[in-house]
Amino acid sequence: MPVRMRPLNAKESVILFTLILAQGFDFCRSCNCDEQYFCNCSSNHLQHVPKVPANALGLDLSFNQIASIGMNDLTPYSELKTLNLHKNTLKFIHVEAFKSQHKLEVLDLSLNNLKNLSSSWFRELKSLQQLNLVENPYTTLGPAPIFQPLLNLRTLRFGSPSLREIYKNGLDSLAHLDEVTFIGSNLSLYENGSLKAARPIGLVSLSLQNLFQNDPELVSKVLQDVSHPETLLIIKDAQLRTNTSTEPFKATREGGTKSLTFQDSCTTDEALTSFLTVMDGSSLSYIGLEDIHLIGQGWWQKASYTHYENLHTAYIRNLDIQGFFEFSSMMQLGFLPVHLHRVSVINGTVFVIPPITTFLLKKLEYLDLSQNLLSDLTIEPTLSTSFGAYQNLITLNVSQNVLKSLGLMSRLITNLKSLIYLDVSHNSFVSMPEKCSWPATLKFLNLSSTKIRKLTPCLPSSLTVLDLSENDLTVFNQRFPQLTMLILTGNRLMTLPHGELFPRLQTLLIQRNALRMFNSSDLKRFRELQYLEAGYNNFVCSCEFVSFFRQDVDLFITLRDGRGNYVCDTPFTLRGDAIDSVRLSVFECYMIPAVSVLCSLIIIVLGLIVVTCHKLHVIWYLQMTKAWIQAKRKPAVGRLAEELRYDAFVSYSQHDAEWVEEILVPELESAHPPFALCLHKRDFQPGRWIVDNIIDSIEKSHRTLFVLSEHFVTSEWCRYELDFSHFRIVDEHNDSAVLVLLEPIKKETIPKRFCKLRKIMNSRTYLEWPEEEEKRNEFWSNLRAVLQRDEC
Ligand SMILES: *[C@@H]1O[C@H](CO)[C@@H](O)[C@H](O)[C@H]1NC(C)=O
Ligand SMILES: *[C@@H]1O[C@H](CO)[C@@H](O)[C@H](O)[C@H]1NC(C)=O
Ligand SMILES: *[C@@H]1O[C@H](CO)[C@@H](O)[C@H](O)[C@H]1NC(C)=O
Ligand SMILES: *[C@@H]1O[C@H](CO)[C@@H](O)[C@H](O)[C@H]1NC(C)=O
Ligand SMILES: *[C@@H]1O[C@H](CO)[C@@H](O)[C@H](O)[C@H]1NC(C)=O
Ligand SMILES: *[C@@H]1O[C@H](CO)[C@@H](O)[C@H](O)[C@H]1NC(C)=O
Ligand SMILES: *[C@@H]1O[C@H](CO)[C@@H](O)[C@H](O)[C@H]1NC(C)=O
Ligand SMILES: *[C@@H]1O[C@H](CO)[C@@H](O)[C@H](O)[C@H]1NC(C)=O
Ligand SMILES: *[C@@H]1O[C@H](CO)[C@@H](O)[C@H](O)[C@H]1NC(C)=O
Repeated sequence: MPVRMRPLNAKESVILFTLILAQGFDFCRSCNCDEQYFCNCSSNHLQHVPKVPANALGLDLSFNQIASIGMNDLTPYSELKTLNLHKNTLKFIHVEAFKSQHKLEVLDLSLNNLKNLSSSWFRELKSLQQLNLVENPYTTLGPAPIFQPLLNLRTLRFGSPSLREIYKNGLDSLAHLDEVTFIGSNLSLYENGSLKAARPIGLVSLSLQNLFQNDPELVSKVLQDVSHPETLLIIKDAQLRTNTSTEPFKATREGGTKSLTFQDSCTTDEALTSFLTVMDGSSLSYIGLEDIHLIGQGWWQKASYTHYENLHTAYIRNLDIQGFFEFSSMMQLGFLPVHLHRVSVINGTVFVIPPITTFLLKKLEYLDLSQNLLSDLTIEPTLSTSFGAYQNLITLNVSQNVLKSLGLMSRLITNLKSLIYLDVSHNSFVSMPEKCSWPATLKFLNLSSTKIRKLTPCLPSSLTVLDLSENDLTVFNQRFPQLTMLILTGNRLMTLPHGELFPRLQTLLIQRNALRMFNSSDLKRFRELQYLEAGYNNFVCSCEFVSFFRQDVDLFITLRDGRGNYVCDTPFTLRGDAIDSVRLSVFECYMIPAVSVLCSLIIIVLGLIVVTCHKLHVIWYLQMTKAWIQAKRKPAVGRLAEELRYDAFVSYSQHDAEWVEEILVPELESAHPPFALCLHKRDFQPGRWIVDNIIDSIEKSHRTLFVLSEHFVTSEWCRYELDFSHFRIVDEHNDSAVLVLLEPIKKETIPKRFCKLRKIMNSRTYLEWPEEEEKRNEFWSNLRAVLQRDEC
């Protein structure tokens, strides 16, 4: 049945695309390809060249188990510039394996199992610049030319202990070589001229091991080819024990080699003496001895009459002297140093240079004795300037020794008239004297890691570079008018030093201190500062600092150590955050103003509440409500006659007190029978709350007499209407209220809001205090009648 194809819908397309992608990732699962199209498939137990994107520029297949490269394994990768097959098990490479790698620049086939080299491999590698073939078991190079197609090769590494034969044509036509590394420790045949390039090679490194012992003649042929004034020669892994093993260096002398370095080698007094004799009168200007094991005691006097006028530099590093304790302290070396300009003896267990030697160091400009055993005791003879030694010394490095006195050090070098650079780092000075003397020429002083706690005026003001890193300084207060670079990394300073002290300072390094912040005024004090490195400090991420750092710091200086290293220490919530990423809220930033504003607001609101309460008598209301509720709760028993102590409770305003006290009270209380009146002034229980008193009095009174006047009504009735204690009486259905009008009050003048009073006045008759004397008797009798208790 034919299947009709329809176009994929969107969902299906996505699924399909995902599948394709998954497949894609699957085939380079073992590789890690980055944005630069470099695929790292190192250490993946691969047995074949894996599939990677065809546009890969680099492919690292090192540390796998690839045994062969077939004709088409690499065909898709025509863009490759780097191919690394170091440490596989490669036995076979197809002659056309690299046919599409026109662009390959670096090819590493080292540490494999290639028994034969084929020139066909390289036929298309026109761009190849670096080729590494070392440590493969091929035994011969040539006679057929192998590297002929590699017209651009600059660096070639080849050979292994298996290599036995080298034929001249094997290395033919390598016109552009800059660097050759050759391992040939088991060589038995070397055709003259094999390593002789058309143009002198810049650097040749030879690892011939025992061959110096076993076949000096063959070595001689090799050296002959690589010795040239323009070629730096490195002899690695050499065993130079007997006087014959150094014979081949005749070729070096004849070739005019100027720079010769021994690395990882072993030698003896005998071989050394012989070497010096062989090289007598050579044009050697640089000799390097790195990681040398010397079996001997320094008896080199046989070489005393040799000439090394051209030898300017001796670089000795990691010298291990087996007979160290019997070593004759280089005394025999006198013939050598006379012409030396630069001497480095680094990590060589040197503890003294006797004056008999120093007196020969007249031409010395550079002396590096770092990582040795110089102490306060031995530094004195070592730096002795008697007989005019060291008068040309510009640089002195005694870093990493066991010196303890900076004062002594400064005294010893005072007479070094040319000294500019002094490195005394990694000694244990701990303190410095108040006064020191220094050569006037001194510009550079390295006091790093010397455990110094406090600065004194000891340090010379002529300095342009001062390194005080990794000490225990807490304060920096010395002035250095010439200083352009100051290194204070790794101390305990809490603030930047004052910029006024360094008018010329351009670079300040102050990482890993205890700086809490710095601001524009701190930086403005440095007149010439351009670069600052101040990361890894204990920054307090206050708002001022964060905003200054984020916005303005670049206006003053360049932070050369990268802004990401500037990290908050406090507040705790921000610890470890890069200052650039910190976001502080307005509240955090304006804490003090915010808190003050908040407090003022609270105070204002409280004030308002208090004022409002006061105005609206809220407290009074509350108390009133409480009292009223209590009054209401009292059992509403009928008011028994015996409970009624008073006939009337008189409610009046202070305004009308005179009338009440001088007219009303005498009249009623002297009547027959007398009326018992309750006046708040007189009868209230002192100390009791007024409201309770009022309620109590009203309850104990038969009637309540309101003395009303115009003033009372307009200004004080208000209170009465509000007054719950009068509530019952003011209630219109209660007839216990008696109104006495002291003066005529027109109902219309009563403010409308006093509806209760209006109602009472409407519903009830009231007694008016007459103006005329003759009507007053009638008034009193009416009043008496009203107040009279009903005897029932
Ligand atoms: C490839 O990865 C390995 C670790 O798997 C690493 O050691 C190696 O340096 C990487 N190679 C390159 C060129 O980055
Ligand atoms: C290497 O070359 C030799 C002779 O030149 C030959 O006999 C041998 O088969 C070759 N081996 C390989 C693996 O090509
Ligand atoms: C050096 O050559 C000898 C033969 O001359 C051989 O027996 C020996 O295995 C070789 N050494 C190495 C490390 O290949
Ligand atoms: C190779 O050089 C040696 C000495 O370096 C010499 O004795 C010999 O004749 C030379 N051989 C050839 C073929 O040039
Ligand atoms: C080399 O050393 C041996 C003894 O080790 C000695 O007999 C011989 O004379 C020395 N040869 C030279 C040239 O110094
Ligand atoms: C100093 O030299 C010794 C050998 O003499 C070596 O073992 C040691 O690693 C060297 N130290 C340094 C720091 O290079
Ligand atoms: C002095 O020696 C130390 C250690 O070898 C080195 O780090 C430093 O750079 C040297 N100082 C100078 C000024 O060369
Ligand atoms: C000072 O000495 C230390 C330790 O030897 C070194 O790391 C540093 O680079 C030196 N300082 C300068 C400015 O060379
Ligand atoms: C800058 O910081 C210093 C302390 O480092 C302080 O004394 C000074 O008042 C600050 N100046 C400004 C403008 O904040």
